[in-house]
Amino acid sequence: MRVNYARMLQERLDGVHGLAPPRLDALVRRFPEVHGELLARRTEGEYGFYHLPEASDTVAAIRRFSEGLGQAHEDVLVLGIGGSALGTRALLDAIRGRDWNQRSDEAREYFPRVTVLDNVDPAAIGAALQRLDPRRTLVNVISKSGNTAETLAQYLVVRAWLREALGDGASRHLVFTTDPESGALREMATTAGVASLEVPPAIGGRFSVLSPVGLLPLALAGIEIDELLGGAGEAVRRAESDDLRENPAALYAALMFAADTQLGARIQVLMPYCDGLREFTAWYCQLWAESLGKAHDRRGQLIHAGPTPLGAVGATDQHSLVQLFMEGPFDKVVAFVSVDDLGPDLPIPSDPSLPEAAAFLGGHTLGELLHTEYEATSAALAKAGRMNLTVRIRDLSARSLGELVMFFQIAVGYAGVWYGVNPFDQPGVEFGKRLTYAALGRPGYQGETATPRPEPVREGV
Ligand code: PA5
Repeated sequence: MRVNYARMLQERLDGVHGLAPPRLDALVRRFPEVHGELLARRTEGEYGFYHLPEASDTVAAIRRFSEGLGQAHEDVLVLGIGGSALGTRALLDAIRGRDWNQRSDEAREYFPRVTVLDNVDPAAIGAALQRLDPRRTLVNVISKSGNTAETLAQYLVVRAWLREALGDGASRHLVFTTDPESGALREMATTAGVASLEVPPAIGGRFSVLSPVGLLPLALAGIEIDELLGGAGEAVRRAESDDLRENPAALYAALMFAADTQLGARIQVLMPYCDGLREFTAWYCQLWAESLGKAHDRRGQLIHAGPTPLGAVGATDQHSLVQLFMEGPFDKVVAFVSVDDLGPDLPIPSDPSLPEAAAFLGGHTLGELLHTEYEATSAALAKAGRMNLTVRIRDLSARSLGELVMFFQIAVGYAGVWYGVNPFDQPGVEFGKRLTYAALGRPGYQGETATPRPEPVREGV
């Protein structure tokens, strides 16, 4: 993986916008202090995700577990939300391809299809249960806290569906992934004798895709999870230096922090040039938004910090959002993800008898066209004075994706230090959860109200 940040710099843009050398120098000078704070917090146990690549016991346990179960089922149904769902979907699409569930059994080498339900939309859940055969489906219920209303509601609906078809055998089709000790899901695993895996307590939801949260469903789909963790380990190794220019994840964080807080680029776009990373942008947006969007800093000062992440996909969004990126307000920075090897390429057939506007494409390939469009968009943005950088990865293998995931997790960890916020809590999300519990009558939450009380929704006009 490489990070090319030349087009963040003023001298490589229009000479007006972008990072001027003194600003970059200031970031470089301040970095050892930022790095030192992160190391101290790691020692105190805050940055638990750094240890995920070392979890060879977990890999062995998940392998044993999935070998027995995986090919015995045609479908795996994942129930979860937020950090318990987005990463799995992102990695599955990237590594196995977005059409995985549509492929024949043979093309999937008899590994199961994987459906991730991350909402409580009755239409989506109803349709999934209509399509799946409970006798051939393994249901993986994932919740770190074990108390999330959406996931528990999904589970209760799916449990009834399993019981109706399988009676007492329903619990053999269930696996829970949750906290080792606390939460309703853990309690139910114990009382109902459901197989379970543990989410390490030091790993937060959005940092958990490389823990059993993501590893189990990905292993069930036949993905080499040791390769994923091997790639993640590489990102950890490359993040040891206190020289900002030698630490790619830290550099990414510092540039994005400066873009937001010093250069007015409050909207930060992640734009991979490949379909396989479409869902990855949703994972990234959650990681960035939930970790950095905070009312208070670590000292309790009111700061209302946080850039707004936005996902886009090339070349598709060149015919949509890119017009805004190119000519709209100077409030954005674009991080491209470019993939060197997208797999087997497709040549574009030549036919000189066609009109010029079509004939010139002949003899090129689709991959070449996509890559050329990325380069042209990046260059055009720079010419228009728009900051952009590129994270370049080799391919969409498990190893490359493991490295990419860990790269962004480390980056957001550094960004937390730059912003002075705790990247591992989510008080805003928790508040919404408590109000939902109060509204639905969960005991112990009756006193929860929004202050000021939300306006009742009135008839529209
Ligand atoms: O990143 C987070 O902590 C959240 O997005 C959680 O993943 C989400 O709220 C789901 O929580 P849980 O896994 O406890 O059900």
